[in-house]
Amino acid sequence: MKKCFITLGLLLASLSYAQKNTEQKIDALLQKMTLEEKVGQLNQYTNDANPTGPLVINPNKEKEIKEGKLGSMLNVMGADRTRKYQELAMQSRMKIPLLFGLDVIHGYKITFPLPLAEAASWDLPLIEQSARIAATEAAASGVHWTFAPMVDIARDPRWGRVMEGAGEDTFLGSKIAYARVKGFQGNQLGDVTSVMACAKHFVGYGAAVGGRDYNSVDMSNRMLWETYLPPFKATVDAGVATFMNSFNDLNGIPATANAYLQRDILKGKWKFDGFIVSDWSSINEMIAHGYAKDSKDAAAKALLAGNDMDMESSAYRNYLVELVREGKVPETVVDDAVRRILRKKFELGLFDNPYKYCDLKRQEKALNNLEHAKVAREMAAKSIVLLKNEQNILPLSKDLKTIAFIGPMVKPKRNNHGFWAVDLKEVDSSYIVSQWEGLERKVGKNTKLLYAKGCDIEGNNRSGFEEAIAVAKQSDVVIVSIGERHDMSGEAKSRSNIHLPGIQEEFIQELQKTGKPIVILINAGRPLIFNWIADNMPTIVYTWWLGSEAGNAIADILFGDYNPSGKLPMTFPRDEGQIPLYYNHFSTGRPSKDDNDVVYKSTYIDLPSSPKFAFGYGLSYTTFSYTDLKLSSDKMKSNEQLSISFTLTNSGKYMGEEVVQLYLKDRFGSVVRPVKELKGFQKVKLNPGEQKTITFTIDNELLSFYNDQLQWISEPGTFDIMIGSSSQDIRLQSSFELMPN
Ligand code: NOJ
Repeated sequence: MKKCFITLGLLLASLSYAQKNTEQKIDALLQKMTLEEKVGQLNQYTNDANPTGPLVINPNKEKEIKEGKLGSMLNVMGADRTRKYQELAMQSRMKIPLLFGLDVIHGYKITFPLPLAEAASWDLPLIEQSARIAATEAAASGVHWTFAPMVDIARDPRWGRVMEGAGEDTFLGSKIAYARVKGFQGNQLGDVTSVMACAKHFVGYGAAVGGRDYNSVDMSNRMLWETYLPPFKATVDAGVATFMNSFNDLNGIPATANAYLQRDILKGKWKFDGFIVSDWSSINEMIAHGYAKDSKDAAAKALLAGNDMDMESSAYRNYLVELVREGKVPETVVDDAVRRILRKKFELGLFDNPYKYCDLKRQEKALNNLEHAKVAREMAAKSIVLLKNEQNILPLSKDLKTIAFIGPMVKPKRNNHGFWAVDLKEVDSSYIVSQWEGLERKVGKNTKLLYAKGCDIEGNNRSGFEEAIAVAKQSDVVIVSIGERHDMSGEAKSRSNIHLPGIQEEFIQELQKTGKPIVILINAGRPLIFNWIADNMPTIVYTWWLGSEAGNAIADILFGDYNPSGKLPMTFPRDEGQIPLYYNHFSTGRPSKDDNDVVYKSTYIDLPSSPKFAFGYGLSYTTFSYTDLKLSSDKMKSNEQLSISFTLTNSGKYMGEEVVQLYLKDRFGSVVRPVKELKGFQKVKLNPGEQKTITFTIDNELLSFYNDQLQWISEPGTFDIMIGSSSQDIRLQSSFELMPN
């Protein structure tokens, strides 16, 4: 034990020595740098070949790198291409290396499921591993920095970017945010398998009015602190290196120039020592917001408010030197921003070796690692959510004679990557296992596979119906793969209508008439609305977009080689009119008991107010029973803990995993509290008949909230405990008292 403390002490001492050393090196550099060179460090350009936003071509890019006028580039990838730009930076007077950033959102060469899909796994170690693999591949390709994780809480499925986050819940979202940062950054920055993570978009972007991308956000400070900020705080706790602010204004101030968010909260209260990058051109966009008179005004406002690096606006490049010379921006503020960026360049080891991440051999090895595909397959299978399996059509037998695999998603490959997949020149689409190939590999020689496309994703072309129906009639089971196109969700992909597009639902109605057992696969980047299918089809599997291993993972689920364990990280509405719909809403003064309780109640007259599928919902091929709830006490004080335990039994026929969920409700308080809030979960694997005692520990932190003075407190009173298989499927209930100290 003593030895352990001594080792820890030595480690801390050497760390702080290294930190001191770095700060001294930065001091020395800052003293030598001209103001122009300092401003150069705050400037970031995209590579013209792969823009991820509205591109403005700057023909002088390479010249400016040699003049030390650029600190970072985005969208450059590949050990050779990054080396080429780094060589230019090494020709500059100060020889400060460039940082290369990229949106590595769900995998690099091997694409993992969409982040929202991964969130459905509730499997934190695996989510961390997925980010670790993405980092390993990206870092081997010269990338230092990923613009991920996106940790925006998203309660509006019309917003196209819900695919990029962890869904609607703050507790789950914070845990996933932490895991993703750990995965990307590994043991420490500077390891050649680590990239810097970037918590984005700070903050409130997910609450854009009407779910329309880039739109305004207006929310109370309590909502901000309690619901939207915690996942960002979790990334700081995980040691995240960078933050990105967001396109939206928050309560009238664009996030890019919001000093309360960036200076007071992030760099002040949370003591964040990394740097903040703007979003693409968001500094200049403050002119359109009506918050900045012109680009010069925008540059001053952004920097003074704490935005360190300018992505693609050129506002810093064009005006910061002038602003400092005119005395409108203190040079010390510029110095602080430069220091933060240089610190990360030191931590990455780029001053020791600017080409550290440009190793072609390492790239070759990392991009051809079969282990990565294996993990992607597991992650993909665990991301799938079984929504219905009423007649136990699934899992399918491997002895079926004829299977029809029908639909517009069956054969295309690239779709399976979903939005925000890295467009690598090195990768051709044969790397993706299509859904058809997955099934083909799974079934034995004696099973005949039939195919028909049937219909398109959009439009009303019914010419393929007949062939598909004929194919269906010849088969024992029909599997139909439908959904939204991979690029119908993502940035700038908001939809006012999130019903299943085109005539896909009508197509299923026609197939149903064949009387064959039908399995529906729904591919999407968001919760979709498909009420007829949900009400009439017995077997529905929500696959999201699953990445490179989509085909294999889907086949694993269909034939029971993996028993589905995914649970929805977002509420599925019945209709757009209910949105925003989320499980942890406040109670009104007129709550309805159920969908029939409508008279003078907070409901709609034309629609139940309950969701179609609830947060936390997802089925398995087996069943789980929850029994024997025990509390260590029915009282606790704020300085004490209380433990809750129960027995979970696999009461079905298959080995399976259950995500057990703990919800709490503070019955009344000095401010209204949500009807329930997720406060714990565990993913538990059990063999048929096996039992396990599950324990959750309650402490004061879990009972606390922000009061109307924005103080983080708990209040004595009764708390309801709800334990279940989803936010609606509560199996065990009890309560306890929080006593005054
Ligand atoms: C704009 C997006 O909002 C952001 O998330 C992304 O990282 C940048 N473009 C760079 O591609």
